[in-house]
Amino acid sequence: MLIDSFDRVVDYLRVSVTERCNFRCNYCMPEKPFSWVPKENLLTFEELFEFIKVAIDEGVNKIRITGGEPLLREGIDQFIKMIYDYKPSIDLAMTTNAFLLKGTARKLKDAGLKRINVSIDTLNPKVAEEIAGKNVLKNVLAGVDEALKVGLKVKVNMVPMKSVNVEEIIDILEYSKQRGISIRFIEYMENTHAKAEIKGLKSPELLELLRKKYNFSDDGFDGSSPSHYYTMDDGYKFGIIEPYEDDFCKQCNRIRLTAEGNLIPCLYFDEALSIAQSIRSDDIKGVKDILKEVIKTKPEKNRWGTDDGESSTRAFYETGG
Ligand code: 5AD
Ligand code: SF4
Repeated sequence: MLIDSFDRVVDYLRVSVTERCNFRCNYCMPEKPFSWVPKENLLTFEELFEFIKVAIDEGVNKIRITGGEPLLREGIDQFIKMIYDYKPSIDLAMTTNAFLLKGTARKLKDAGLKRINVSIDTLNPKVAEEIAGKNVLKNVLAGVDEALKVGLKVKVNMVPMKSVNVEEIIDILEYSKQRGISIRFIEYMENTHAKAEIKGLKSPELLELLRKKYNFSDDGFDGSSPSHYYTMDDGYKFGIIEPYEDDFCKQCNRIRLTAEGNLIPCLYFDEALSIAQSIRSDDIKGVKDILKEVIKTKPEKNRWGTDDGESSTRAFYETGG
């Protein structure tokens, strides 16, 4: 079992398979073109799998494939099958923007994928284009429909932003509710790659807005999920991810691996250790040692809540959120 210095059991690994993305969401990526990590620096699926086997053997029982956009990486369904075949009981999920999901959902499900998280920040095609930098909404919604059809469990993420999509919060909640999808509102996390003008809606403002239409009870946190949950009178649950709050980090059970092989103990901090060299030289003991070292250095808290004016430089498109 992997236990960090604050007695948190780390059993959840997020693996980013590419930082590339076919969207340019303005809360995530810079507007201007920039250079990607050269392809030869990426770990192959076989190399990533070598690490995943070590992590599973050490107690990881939940794996989420992220990006950038993971569906851009060819052979992703075979990669999922490798993980599934190694441990079929593993909770195997993916975070995707859903643009390519219509054509791939069936293959992913057959390979062993159980769940997906999709961002839906708007149901208005023009606003979607403003956020993502291209006309994406039709494909995203078709992707979600297909995922539901093939039996993947779906969660929706929405980042509420002032003067952008605040008016749509109820519509997106209703869209999700009608489809039996759970929704989580994610407070915008300031970072140096996002568009400077973005102002996120904080949880108290969001709750005030929702209270105008719904009654709901506060359920607090549930297990290791970073979401604060609320249950509406009709039983529908929604979550709010409040990284600026203190409670957010208390149950944190996760570490992240980037496509280049950097193992990251916390989303906010820039510290990371690379497993690439050990993996490439088949040094499995070295890989295990690095994993244990990273667990040891996992900080108690992120620093989104601190008031020192610093913004994280960690790119969400490298770590998949
Ligand atoms: N703040 C909050 N959420 C973000 N995401 C990406 N960038 C940010 C940010 N700056 C979310 C996306 C997606 C998930 C992977 O991370 O909405 O749902
Ligand atoms: Fe948008 Fe996700 Fe791509 Fe970032 S990685 S630009 S949030 S789709």
